[in-house]
Amino acid sequence: MEQYVIKGGNPLYGEVEIGGAKNAALAILAASIMTDETVTIENLPNVRDINVLLQAIEQIGAQVERINEHTVKINGSFIQDVTVDNEFIRRIRASYYLIGALLGKYKKAEVALPGGCDIGSRPIDLHMKGFRAMGAQVDIAHGLVTAEAEHLKGTHIYLDKVSVGATINIMMAAAMAEGKTVIENAAKEPHVVDVANFLNSMGANIRGAGTDVIRIVGVEKLHKTEYSIIPDQIEAGTFMFAVAAAGGNVLVKDVIPKHLEATTAKLLEAGCKVEEFDDAVRIISDGKLHHTQVTTLPYPGFPTDMQPQMAVLLGIAEGTSTVTESIFENRFKYVDELTRMGANIKVESNIAIINGVKNYTGARVNAPDLRAGAALVIAGLVAEGITVVDDIYYIERGYEAFEKKLRGIGASIEKVSDEKEIQKFILKVS
Ligand code: EPZ
Repeated sequence: MEQYVIKGGNPLYGEVEIGGAKNAALAILAASIMTDETVTIENLPNVRDINVLLQAIEQIGAQVERINEHTVKINGSFIQDVTVDNEFIRRIRASYYLIGALLGKYKKAEVALPGGCDIGSRPIDLHMKGFRAMGAQVDIAHGLVTAEAEHLKGTHIYLDKVSVGATINIMMAAAMAEGKTVIENAAKEPHVVDVANFLNSMGANIRGAGTDVIRIVGVEKLHKTEYSIIPDQIEAGTFMFAVAAAGGNVLVKDVIPKHLEATTAKLLEAGCKVEEFDDAVRIISDGKLHHTQVTTLPYPGFPTDMQPQMAVLLGIAEGTSTVTESIFENRFKYVDELTRMGANIKVESNIAIINGVKNYTGARVNAPDLRAGAALVIAGLVAEGITVVDDIYYIERGYEAFEKKLRGIGASIEKVSDEKEIQKFILKVS
């Protein structure tokens, strides 16, 4: 099992390039099988969840051609099978996008019930409600979600809760349904807009993505396209928080600053400086941080995917801060690990009350999920001494070359695979 070993205390300087948005890419890859023509997708992040989804698409008969690390060509004309099930696909959340894509195109889908990071109960009732409202018969049995419709018909769907996954999934199916679908209380995340733009570039008719009402007029066929995925706002935010915590001055490149507004606002409140450019942001921090309050909310609110990174920052800020998690009920699993590094955090229901400590101390910790794992790495970058982060499998689901990018801005971090390598690293840095 691989681990990250980190020697804390280095401020971070230089430039880092941000890749394509994982959560946009997952939906776009699924949607790319909806045409029988060849689709080219650029700026694809080379991370584990993406590669699992590509394999699943290949397994049902689509042609997948890797042009380079970040570009892929997909042709969905050879699909013969609408059943998607294997050991790996069951572990990723985004497998559910294949239900919307296959149901839209073939009016039938059979997909393993999604897994993903354990951050709460994560039901898919809203996805199912949407498909049923369009006339599909949807059932769950033997670990598979089966959706089938003789005629998929446009309709009015109100989402009881703002859900990124349900919004995108319904939008995909509706793109090839008969007539007009209106999704109310839709998610407004940048990746919802990116998927709508992608589908429109294939000939779909989707209006209003980015607002809470999306209108889709179904079309019979979609066609080829070439599309470049938007930058990953969470990867960008994670690097900004790393610099904020460790101190330093870093230009975070290839981003859309507008998508980072909530993250930037909290960094300013915490006492950092942020300069915005057309497609980059510079973050400057002297490592002296102020307490603040934050509540996670759907976009444009503060993203739940930045919540653990924020808590790590506030754990070393002067005074008492609170972090309220309003999206997922189980997203504080990292708190025990952080406590082992000296943090003073008490969780009461969905609120973490954080009393800032002077610094963390290096320890051996486990990454409980993707974003919490990245947050523990940030804690290690600041901590006194050596931190070992286990279970980095989770981090690699969503961050490409995380340790290399951090090393590029001055962090002392290495990926290792056994105790011997940890000892070698410790000898080298001490
Ligand atoms: C997406 O998950 C992301 N995953 C998550 O990213 C992200 O945390 C989340 O959106 C919120 O931004 C992918 O894109 C693959 P939701 P998703 O549906 O779509 C409830 C990461 O770290 N809900 O917006 O599954 C749900 O329980 C990951 O990259 C229902 O009740 O999230 C939650 O409370 C982790 N019924 C809320 O809605 C449903 O049918 C929002 O969830 C669906 C959701």
